[in-house]
Amino acid sequence: MTYQNYSLRQLQQIDAAHHLHPFTDHKELREAGSRIITRADGPFIYDSEGNEILDGMAGLWCVNVGYGRDELAEAAYEQMKELPYYNSFFRCSTPTPVLLSERLARIAPGSVQQVFYGSSGSEANDTAVRLVRHYWALEGRPQKNRIISRNMAYHGSTITGASLGGMEGMHSQLGGAVPNIVHVMAPYSYELALPGESDHEFGLRAARAVEDAIVEAGPDKVAAFIGEPIQGAGGVKIPPASYWPEIQRICRKYDVLLMLDEVITGYGRTGEWFAAQSMGIEADTITTAKALTSGYQPLSALLVGDRIAATLVDKGGEFFHGYTYSGHPVACAVALANLDIIEREGLIERVREETGPYLAQALHERVAGHALVGEVRSFGFLGAIEIVKDKATKERFAPGGSAAVVVRDHMIAGGLMMRATGDTMIMSPPLIWTRQTIDLACDRIVKALDLAERDLRR
Ligand SMILES: Cc1ncc(COP(=O)(O)O)c(C=O)c1O
Repeated sequence: MTYQNYSLRQLQQIDAAHHLHPFTDHKELREAGSRIITRADGPFIYDSEGNEILDGMAGLWCVNVGYGRDELAEAAYEQMKELPYYNSFFRCSTPTPVLLSERLARIAPGSVQQVFYGSSGSEANDTAVRLVRHYWALEGRPQKNRIISRNMAYHGSTITGASLGGMEGMHSQLGGAVPNIVHVMAPYSYELALPGESDHEFGLRAARAVEDAIVEAGPDKVAAFIGEPIQGAGGVKIPPASYWPEIQRICRKYDVLLMLDEVITGYGRTGEWFAAQSMGIEADTITTAKALTSGYQPLSALLVGDRIAATLVDKGGEFFHGYTYSGHPVACAVALANLDIIEREGLIERVREETGPYLAQALHERVAGHALVGEVRSFGFLGAIEIVKDKATKERFAPGGSAAVVVRDHMIAGGLMMRATGDTMIMSPPLIWTRQTIDLACDRIVKALDLAERDLRR
């Protein structure tokens, strides 16, 4: 029996009765009912009532090649027929992770030759933490195990991911975080820059917070710094250009490894294969997932730099870590086909040279002037709109976070999916968006802001 035999109401009732959703107030969901998305095509998703919604979030930062790609379905189908599963434990391998690893080594920035697979970004970050700590232990420095992260970071929702992340709400429910992880300020100039401080100076000051944390602990106690090149779930916080090169310099000075979490930024979103290339830096580990398969299959890949990989290989000894689905043959087949599409259609160049700059221009020309908008910012195909009560003073509506929800609800009702995080509206469109799609999105953004303003100032 297919879902078409059920009414929307029935699906919502069954959903409420049996399905615990991620990051959800379950009491509230039970009362309001869920929005059920039934199909998608190109840049659009469709709900069970037939509403067409332009997907400004690419699913959840992942559907970079857009929906309805037969090629990816066929890659999965062919692989499932040939070999649906075999593990990569016990000195076994299957062809698609082998070929994908070689391909990733070719496109990865810096000195990456090795890849470790999982099924999610959270798992890959767990791998990264274990690998980095294992590295220092192999180097005879097991006490060098502290990891520096940042406030408002999002690194996933396993216990390690949530401990690495800088989300207070998540920490409060952990009942004990993974030890030896500390958090410093985020490079979020809109709220944290001092009066008169230039963007450049602010970036250096935010980087200095990392240096201070290293010095305070003692460099011999600090294993690594981890950061998203652009904080995504925390509100698309784009650091000043001075920030990342300074972080790189500091990490090198104190012999602290640099871990980049490119779960959102990887595979084209910033107009390069990886944001490390956009920021001009090199990392020791790069966590990737999501757009590796454009979300068509769950797959993560931790890209491991030569420094760590060489020690792992030279010193030997088993690294006691892995997942049943590490290197899943179907997911890897889909990833290979997905990378083919990104490459063949020149999606990354398009974002870098045409649509990314056009999105920035459209947001500045059409959205930034709205009375509810404190700031717009974008980098490649990541964008954010700060919702304020007063543009000049940056005063927010009370209670915090409530205004963006009003904006978001009007956006969805008006046919555009964006996400509200705190008082920030964020977007992460599929890389297939054209100038016309961006125009359509801006029409819908402005309309939703107008309607929200009417509600909020009533
Ligand atoms: C930067 C970053 N890291 C890690 C994750 C976790 O990925 P997953 O939800 O696949 O575990 C996310 C998810 O959004 C993310 O944005």
